[in-house]
Amino acid sequence: MDRIAIEGGSPLFGDIPISGAKNSAIKLMAASLLTSEPIRLTNMPRLADTRLLGRLLARFGTQISESDGPDGQQTVLHTPEITSSFAPYDLVRQMRASFNVLGPLLARTGHAKVSLPGGCTIGARPVDLHLKALEALGAHIDMHEGYVFAQAPRGLKGAEIEFPFVSVGATEHALMAAVLAHGTTVMKNCACEPEIADLAECLNAMGAKVSGQGTTTIVVEGVTSLHGTDWSVICDRIEAGTYAVAGATAGGEVRLTRVRPELIAILLDKLVEAGCEVERGTDTVTIRRKDAKIRPVDLTTDVYPGFATDLQAQFMALMTLADGESVIRETIFENRFMHVPELGRLGADIRVTGNEARVHGVAELRGAQVMATDLRASACLVIAGLAARGETIVNRVYHLDRGFENLEGKLSACGANIKRLKGDTPIMEEE
Ligand code: UD1
Repeated sequence: MDRIAIEGGSPLFGDIPISGAKNSAIKLMAASLLTSEPIRLTNMPRLADTRLLGRLLARFGTQISESDGPDGQQTVLHTPEITSSFAPYDLVRQMRASFNVLGPLLARTGHAKVSLPGGCTIGARPVDLHLKALEALGAHIDMHEGYVFAQAPRGLKGAEIEFPFVSVGATEHALMAAVLAHGTTVMKNCACEPEIADLAECLNAMGAKVSGQGTTTIVVEGVTSLHGTDWSVICDRIEAGTYAVAGATAGGEVRLTRVRPELIAILLDKLVEAGCEVERGTDTVTIRRKDAKIRPVDLTTDVYPGFATDLQAQFMALMTLADGESVIRETIFENRFMHVPELGRLGADIRVTGNEARVHGVAELRGAQVMATDLRASACLVIAGLAARGETIVNRVYHLDRGFENLEGKLSACGANIKRLKGDTPIMEEE
């Protein structure tokens, strides 16, 4: 099992290029099932999760080629014919988002058998909203032995869908199914995450008729078929936010490049509150913290454009060194404080009650062995390790590899003393 070793205490100075968004790339890959023509995705991150989804798509008949094109890393996905609509447990359990192949398979072939994704470490995360949306579109759904059997032999039909609460995955899933449905679908109480707009705009480039993406009401006029297109994956706001917080925690000056600053506006505001200087360019952001103390800042996670739950753990790492107490509330997932005991091993003082963590800043963190529990929690431990005195070893790095491309390379280019200790790399499910 790979581990990451960090000798803390060096401030970060330099540029960090931000990759394409994992959470967009994997939905765009699934959307490629909706057409028999090739889809060329550029600005593609190379991650364990994109590789895993590639393996799943290959089972359905998708031909996948990866290369370095004129616009950077690219992946071409081509599914001339769906040769199987079966997504087995062994692959779906490893990544919850792979459940979202159900909608495209159903829309294109009229039937699919897809494993339920199973539980995960950050909460129960059911898929009831996904299935209700597909049923509203006319799918007949049965469940046996952990599998969803979905059928719509005469195609899906446009419908009105009102989500009882906001879900990123269910919004995207319903959208991918509705583009090939007969008639108009009106989706209310949708998630507004930028990755959903990225998906909707790529679908439009494929010939779909989607409007309202980025707002809570999305309208889809069904079309009979979609065609191929080229699409550049939106930048990864969670990766960008993670390095912004890393710069703030370690001190120094980092400049994020290939980023859209408006996508992390709330986080940047919080960093300013915490005492950092932030300069927002067109596609760059500079975060600077020289001698200023870190001020305590409260936050509550929320759906976009609120503070992203995927950045909560990283921000908590910064707050462990603040000059006072901060209160961090998690409202999206019920079990997303698993990093707290690990931060405690580094000397942090954090008390959790329900969905609220009280973080009493300490004068310094001290290096220790810690265990990554999920993808974003792993990033938080790396950030804490960068600021801790002495050596921190982060175990179970396979979590990080699911969502961060070349993390050690990007941080060492800014002067961090970080290296990977090689070992066997199993993969587990969570985000
Ligand atoms: C996506 C992101 C993840 C992010 C999360 C919230 C991807 C691959 N993952 O996850 O990084 O942390 O959005 O921003 O894009 N829920 C139900 N029933 C459902 C669906 C969801 O109860 O059918 C609940 C979940 O358990 C959770 C909440 O709704 O408590 C929000 O989940 P959702 O927005 O669906 O997150 P994901 O799409 O899984």
